Amino acid sequence: MRRLVAETQLSVNDLIAPLFVKEGIEEPLPIVSLPDVVQHSRSSLVTEVERLRDLGVPAVMLFGVPLRKDSMGSEAWNPEGIVQVALEELRGAVGDDVVLMADLCVDEYTDHGHCGIVGDDGDVDNDATLELYQRAAVAQAAAGAHVVAPSGMMDGQVAAIRAALDDASHSTIPILGYSAKYASAEYGPFRDAVDVSIAGGGDRKSYQQDPANAREAMEEIRFDIAEGADMIMVKPALAYLDIIAAARAEFDVPLAAYHVSGEYAMLKAAAVNGWIDGEATAFEHLTSIKRAGADMILTYLAGEVAEILAG
Ligand code: PBG
Repeated sequence: MRRLVAETQLSVNDLIAPLFVKEGIEEPLPIVSLPDVVQHSRSSLVTEVERLRDLGVPAVMLFGVPLRKDSMGSEAWNPEGIVQVALEELRGAVGDDVVLMADLCVDEYTDHGHCGIVGDDGDVDNDATLELYQRAAVAQAAAGAHVVAPSGMMDGQVAAIRAALDDASHSTIPILGYSAKYASAEYGPFRDAVDVSIAGGGDRKSYQQDPANAREAMEEIRFDIAEGADMIMVKPALAYLDIIAAARAEFDVPLAAYHVSGEYAMLKAAAVNGWIDGEATAFEHLTSIKRAGADMILTYLAGEVAEILAG
């Protein structure tokens, strides 16, 4: 009876698996703060994406961990850069059977860890950064990304990327905007996963959103859609279910939510201690994110949830 009347169904079709690929390693490396998540080598990444494909997971989101970082993050658009090389190999291995999404930002590639060019005043220079994102978008599309996903929260980034993709004959590549991305404490484990620390103990409060603000998120999403975003995202997820629900009510484009590294780490830490039932909690969390209105969920749980759903 409960199955019959359930208003929300969590399905494998809802899942996007975030994956990390690190340059210059032969074997995958564990990430201490993200149990069961690894920094992949190029070959283990291909094996993992083939496994996810076989489980029916429709999409992955790729993050690169380069050997070389500089002030501009130039490995983000180097055709030989780790994400570009990985995209080419994945496209060769799985073709169009898995949607290959590429996180588009420079924080994994800059030596100061910020999402853009840092000016003399120590602040990120919004407008100067847009050109870097344009280069990265074109490089990712040329390497085989099906979708580019700008996560830097620079104003005007979607319009800039759309123009650059169109000029480079990539007009069919959609943009998934990390539109309402909060300056959250829940990204901590992610920064271990991508070997990032922000210079001088800094933070991203000058470009990511204040958790106190909800109406502002609607404004950010409205801008992104007006600039050409094909899909939008709210991030993190559980502490922002009100934002997901409000975005669902107001906008008709596909809506993603990111169940981020800290949300996963908290769940795993409690489960490993036997303080909560990890599997039941995972399903409760993801079902709630869907109930709030998300069409798709980026989650480090994607592989294990897909396995359970497959029975
Ligand atoms: C930026 C980016 C971040 C995450 C995804 N893209 C980090 C940040 O904004 O500080 C965090 C994802 C997570 O915590 O799981 N490239």
